[in-house]
Amino acid sequence: MTELKIVYGSYFSDFLTSLGRPNPRLYLRLNTLRWDEIHEADLSIFNRDEDFEEAIYVNVIGPTKLEEYSSRIIVDKKTAESAIIGSNVYQPGIKKIEGNGPIYSIFSENGVHVANGKLRAESEILVENVESIYRSVKISELDVIKKGLAISQGKSSMYVARMLDPRPAETIVDMNAYPGGKLTHIYQLEPRAKIIGFDHTNKKVQKLREVLVALRMKVPVVVGDSRYLYEDFNIREVDKVLIDPPCSAIGVRPKIYDRKTIGEIKNFQIYQKQFLNSAFKILKKKGVVIYSTCTVTLKENEEVVSDPRFEIERIVRFHPNLHETTGFFIAKLVKR
Ligand SMILES: C[S@@+](CC[C@H](N)C(=O)[O-])C[C@H]1O[C@@H](n2cnc3c(N)ncnc32)[C@H](O)[C@@H]1O
Repeated sequence: MTELKIVYGSYFSDFLTSLGRPNPRLYLRLNTLRWDEIHEADLSIFNRDEDFEEAIYVNVIGPTKLEEYSSRIIVDKKTAESAIIGSNVYQPGIKKIEGNGPIYSIFSENGVHVANGKLRAESEILVENVESIYRSVKISELDVIKKGLAISQGKSSMYVARMLDPRPAETIVDMNAYPGGKLTHIYQLEPRAKIIGFDHTNKKVQKLREVLVALRMKVPVVVGDSRYLYEDFNIREVDKVLIDPPCSAIGVRPKIYDRKTIGEIKNFQIYQKQFLNSAFKILKKKGVVIYSTCTVTLKENEEVVSDPRFEIERIVRFHPNLHETTGFFIAKLVKR
């Protein structure tokens, strides 16, 4: 709390309230490398973004007051935060089922009624969401997503590849590539750049390769610990590095609750600084780092990028209470 009060001061309660709501727009990014396959009919339910030609969105509707049923399903935090915007509930997220329907009220573990649903035990989906506090489209069911013509990505996240500004023949390393939102954006902005993505588990890199196949993009992605790219892969003299490290994700909404401790935030900072240290080793002089997080603490943002080995060229912050987006931080650094 203290960490957040430092950033938000007298706007603190506005900030907390804004975290309880979803972003008012649900964004997709079009795969502009396949423009010729995207038809007007595919886009009929979407609005075009005012700034980016590749960004389309649908409005999120709500809040709606829900009827409460005596049968209940209690779900974990992550599942509740998806169900509140209309997602179905799958088995692993379910903590407890009480009563026997036919309609169940879906509650978070701390007692927030987020949605109502019907049990569908015969299929892979366990609870079909029939009514939720907020509503929008179900992304995975959209044709443009199934055909690889678009990918789900928030607007603030789209600024990252734009700020990285890839150019032909530049060598660009994405240190934290999975699930590929920013990597694929960089590639579609400049397919002639030499881009390579790293992530540290086999499973994530395999899934990322599947995403790239679906989008028909050819980008090498490698399993590796990006804190040691110089030592383990002999990488050096690169032009640009994207660091999008694990973070406390405090800017991600809607949030039903969050219990991050100062100790966890300090640990994130230690980890995040290791990526910046690694970027220093692999970059050429005057090489660029784009550092981004979906969190708002000074510890994971300004304190990480205030490194005397880099000049800070630009910092952009998105505040959920002001910009109606995910709380987001992006810095552009230049190696001295
Ligand atoms: C915030 S996510 C990245 C999101 C991604 N850039 C995007 O736009 O879709 C952070 C990623 O860092 C990866 N990661 C964590 N530790 C790592 C390490 N030591 N080396 C490489 N990747 C790591 C995680 O597996 C996770 O996929």
